[in-house]
Amino acid sequence: MKNFVSVNDVDDINGLVAQALAYKANPFADRQLGADRRVGLLFLNPSLRTRLSTQIAATNLGMEAIVFNVDKEGWALEFEDGAIMSGNTVEHIKDAAPILGQYFDIICIRTFPSLKNKEDDYSELVINSFIRYSGVPVVSLESATLHPLQSLTDIVTIKESLLANNTASVEGLVVKPKIVLTWAPHVKCLPQCVANSFAQWVNAWGEAEFVITHPEDYELSTVYTQGATITHNQEEALQGADFIYVKNWSTFTDYGKIYSNDPAWMLTEEKLRLTNNAKVLHCLPVRRNIELSDEVLDSSNSIVTREASNRVWAAQAVLSAILKAQ
Ligand code: CP
Repeated sequence: MKNFVSVNDVDDINGLVAQALAYKANPFADRQLGADRRVGLLFLNPSLRTRLSTQIAATNLGMEAIVFNVDKEGWALEFEDGAIMSGNTVEHIKDAAPILGQYFDIICIRTFPSLKNKEDDYSELVINSFIRYSGVPVVSLESATLHPLQSLTDIVTIKESLLANNTASVEGLVVKPKIVLTWAPHVKCLPQCVANSFAQWVNAWGEAEFVITHPEDYELSTVYTQGATITHNQEEALQGADFIYVKNWSTFTDYGKIYSNDPAWMLTEEKLRLTNNAKVLHCLPVRRNIELSDEVLDSSNSIVTREASNRVWAAQAVLSAILKAQ
């Protein structure tokens, strides 16, 4: 694997999932793989899980991991080609990225969208500039449009649950599970990244019946959703679900707006009764009693803590695949 910025960088999703689960069973199996290698974890935005899990994953592989909070501790970067830098930006990515490529064997970067200009955000200018100018492999720690480490983790967590319930073998699924991605209310304007990415990965994986439900005018980009059944009727979507992925996102078509905060879309215990005793996933952080009720989050149906802990193994599988290809 050269870079890891979307599912399109992965040749074999099930192989990567199996590697993640193998690392969960034996975290230090490849302790020597990353010896004398250094990874830079660059953050332009806050993080708890992504930052720590990737750092732990790198350490498990014997790598040195250096975290750099670019937004707080670095120079303000310019990304526009030909920019006359008379404003607030201090250093062009053309100058900064090659230096970072000399310091690090792999660069991992988190860069959220502005949610103001759809074309700019969906062009992935920041992460593509690092790929173009750094000269080393680049891993997305969540970009303007996608969150692939989260989505790989989500597939790992779903597969792990299916294996534990004997509804899957290592080779493949016995019965296709029903996975529902449901929109949830939120008080802030959030990116579409997690939802885009989850849809992209589940569709590419192809081992589930996949339904997306959201209020009217919350359609995601069809680039990611093609292959899924889409409905505005949440109760209908939840019927017989085996897994429910809960996530808020702001509008895509009329970009970056909040059209609805309807509390009726919050996932509750009552709605869980419509499902096949579904397991509930959320990438976290979660707004309790806004996105998900306390009763659901604190119930045995919720697997959000296991999901977050699996971030380590997904990151380890990705770093390992990149190191093996170098
Ligand atoms: N799910 C996730 O990416 O969490 P953080 O924002 O805390 O890294």
